[in-house]
Amino acid sequence: MARTEAARPAERGFLTPSGVPSFRAMNESKYVRTEVSGAVATVVIDRQDKLNALNPGVIEEIDQAFEQLRDDASVHGVLLTGAGDKAFVAGADIGVLAEMEPLSGTEVSREGQAVLRRIEEFPKPVVAAVGGYALGGGCELALACHLRVASERANFGLPEVGLGIIPGYGGTIRLARLVGLGRAMEIVLTGDMIDAQRAYEIGLANVVAPHGELMERAEKLLARIVRNGPKALEMALKSMYAAAENTMEHALALESSLFGLLASTRDMREGMAAFLEKRKARFEGR
Ligand code: COA
Repeated sequence: MARTEAARPAERGFLTPSGVPSFRAMNESKYVRTEVSGAVATVVIDRQDKLNALNPGVIEEIDQAFEQLRDDASVHGVLLTGAGDKAFVAGADIGVLAEMEPLSGTEVSREGQAVLRRIEEFPKPVVAAVGGYALGGGCELALACHLRVASERANFGLPEVGLGIIPGYGGTIRLARLVGLGRAMEIVLTGDMIDAQRAYEIGLANVVAPHGELMERAEKLLARIVRNGPKALEMALKSMYAAAENTMEHALALESSLFGLLASTRDMREGMAAFLEKRKARFEGR
């Protein structure tokens, strides 16, 4: 939809008196704020005194932010980042984890898993912009996003074994799927942090940017994505994630169904007409 973006802020009344597109603040949460600019929403986790660590309130507000964005037809992609200069998210809140009993521990894990799963299954592309520590639950949160842009100061790690626990928000599964079992095994069993360059080399980070350019580079990546057909992006995400969880036979069957489904969209007709007419497509997301 980015090709129609220029008109969008004016249509929705987001222009400042000087005519410059402005951000649209969406919520009044304690730890998480969301701003929308054009087709992209930025969700910022802001609990800087604890390096943006995930307590139950933060997790709930992240979930609510995504829920709101899911239904916002003007939003075609999401950037997720941490406030401040030091951390994306330095993990689940160790103060809260320290109180866990066996049953509540399972619940803590399941609730976190469910929120991250909803991000992974979010129908619009989600890019994590990691400008510092992405540890434990923070690393797992970045793993649940569809792509990751790291600043040179980013550090990724799953240090849970050093606390006598294991990653409980899907990290043992998603990291291995992303970087391979051997590399994931080393990261989980040592609990060591890896820097941005290493994360890039093993495919954990898609891009490494100079620290001061983190958001700009993440926005650029997302802008290249959201100019494409929204329904096509949704189906591509669905097909690619389903492939990781299915047999080849099922994955291929789903791929052709989704491919067929897209043939019923106006976006498909528009995308192809635009190519043939040598102009930019104006996707409507339907
Ligand atoms: N849970 C709760 N609080 C956390 C936290 C977490 N995961 N990570 C950082 N904090 C808090 C610190 O306790 C400290 O709070 P305080 O000022 O009230 O004492 C504050 O954030 C700043 O952290 P600090 O440790 O002083 O910063 P640092 O620059 O010296 O170290 C880290 C940064 C990330 C190396 C260190 O904070 C750390 O190891 N955090 C825990 C990482 C972790 O194990 N995460 C996985 C949890 S499952």
